[in-house]
Amino acid sequence: MCGIVGYIGTQAATEILLAGLEKLEYRGYDSAGIATVWEGEVNCVRAKGKLHNLRSKLEQLENPAQIGIGHTRWATHGKPEEYNAHPHLDTAMRVAVVQNGIIENYRELREELKQKGHEFRSETDTEVIPHLIAEFLKNLPASSSSSPFLDAVRQAVNYLKGAFAIAVICADYPDELIVVRQQAPLVIGFGQGEFFCASDTPAIVAYTRAVLPLENGEIARLTPLGVEIYNFAGDRLKKQPRMLNLSPTMVEKQGFKHFMLKEIYEQPGVVRASLEAYFTNIEESSESPINLGLPREFYADLAQIQIVACGTSWHAALVGKYLLEQLAGISTQVHYASEYRYAPSPLTPNTLIIGVTQSGETADTLAALAMEKERRQGQEPQYQARLLGITNRPESSLGLMVPHIINTLAGIEIGVAATKTFIAQLMAFYALALDLAAHRQTVPLEKLVEIINGLRQIPKEIEATLEAQESLTEHLAHDFAETKDFIFLGRGINFPIALEGALKLKEISYIHAEGYPAGEMKHGPIALLDAKVPVVAIAIPGSVYEKVISNAQEAKARDSRLIGVTPVNDGEAAEIFNDLLPVSSVDELLSPILTVVPLQLLAYHIAARRGLDVDQPRNLAKSVTVE
Ligand code: M6R
Repeated sequence: MCGIVGYIGTQAATEILLAGLEKLEYRGYDSAGIATVWEGEVNCVRAKGKLHNLRSKLEQLENPAQIGIGHTRWATHGKPEEYNAHPHLDTAMRVAVVQNGIIENYRELREELKQKGHEFRSETDTEVIPHLIAEFLKNLPASSSSSPFLDAVRQAVNYLKGAFAIAVICADYPDELIVVRQQAPLVIGFGQGEFFCASDTPAIVAYTRAVLPLENGEIARLTPLGVEIYNFAGDRLKKQPRMLNLSPTMVEKQGFKHFMLKEIYEQPGVVRASLEAYFTNIEESSESPINLGLPREFYADLAQIQIVACGTSWHAALVGKYLLEQLAGISTQVHYASEYRYAPSPLTPNTLIIGVTQSGETADTLAALAMEKERRQGQEPQYQARLLGITNRPESSLGLMVPHIINTLAGIEIGVAATKTFIAQLMAFYALALDLAAHRQTVPLEKLVEIINGLRQIPKEIEATLEAQESLTEHLAHDFAETKDFIFLGRGINFPIALEGALKLKEISYIHAEGYPAGEMKHGPIALLDAKVPVVAIAIPGSVYEKVISNAQEAKARDSRLIGVTPVNDGEAAEIFNDLLPVSSVDELLSPILTVVPLQLLAYHIAARRGLDVDQPRNLAKSVTVE
């Protein structure tokens, strides 16, 4: 979490840094700061709270500096106070550093540096870095290298343990910006006589599309003349930027009140893009009408699938499990990545391991995959890792880690609450399960064609749902804005959607919400129910419809107000539910892509009515790069 930016060039840096930080605020927003070098001094301005606080402070200052670094923080070490905000400086205030990540050995380093006379001003792990760099700068032999600053940073990072990305400037080297990547994202942007760095591309896309993502263990020296890349040993590396397929307007709200609402409305387009990319014309296809670009040997003798993910991606993986088991007949386990890393399943042969992460940067998911890769190394061939990533950011750390990726086609998502990336992940799982089913011949071709044709109808069904539900959910939001607890029920393939509906409500409206498999209610949670606890039940005709309706009746008998996500013309449902969030009649197997939409809208409207910051909910960050 945390976002970092840097600039060196011919323009005033402050506004460029602030504009970049605005685009990175989704990564953390409890304090922010920038440092520049001007007239031989480091100027550092920091503010607690959202970025506009920093902006107001900076408005009173004239600063034409053409080099600078900036940071937006999600607190890990030390409270969200101004003294803990980045950039952090050394004792003499000559070196300034911004960091995204965690320095695990900061306590030992801090003690050692204190003994050498360094004075610390914050509670953060980051502050050891400028002090360490200053220490190396002090002790470098005169004229030891063409860039003593680069050398000092390189020596310092060799002492750091943890996952981090940093950007560093120094008052004594006003033409150098040094950036480092070690297991936290960092991208460099190439302009004409100006260069940028950032934790993520939206921060620099307004200035350049020529980008180079750094790899782990790389250091870059940015000067007005160009960019040099080195490894931690000091060897120069040859690397070329590539062109980014992202326009500045893709990261604007385009008339919507919030990014989240815009992203909910983009979902029909996401499904269309996925259909086009993953599914070929049935007549043209020989073996399988699905094209994911995965090598055939990937599927050979496949016995089991293990999936690791967090949050909303974990919910998508649960839908994936249902599809992979029911369509392709492969036993599939879904794990919280943060748990799996420390308690993995026993090693099984012929196992596909899938990491699902929209950002491609979630530390828990990356660590679980790295652990799995490592423990399978050197094993018999059937135990070797077959790794697959499902991500919306193929250029991410996940993309560097795994050999095969299913690229989800949501486009950039800014709202911290995942919406369109969830739908895109579902589409990836439909494609994967159907492809496996085709190869394993577990589903007859006619049935595959029927399912794919059903998927092709989904975009217009989502459009119809959005049109019908905007005012319905707004109306319900009025009734529920002060509600304290919510229960979401679903069964079978819609159980993960109940979990997702509850998560959306919790994270943006701060209302306590739980998702349950409807049949589990009677085993305990039913004790929670009374007239103050509304129950949202997803009831789609199919294998468990009658069961869900019965479970909903049980809730109604305990006075709960019942809200049904159910087909438009269902008479029985209309009688039972107090309120309806009607969806079209679709095949139960495809229904999660549709049933999640009213739940997203409900959460959105409740949070908006409560006057909350929908796109940047408290305590959260879009990209969780710490464990
Ligand atoms: O980038 P990832 O998909 O790995 O992120 C995982 C979770 O942090 C994420 O889904 C989180 O739960 C979202 N806030 C959900 O809206």
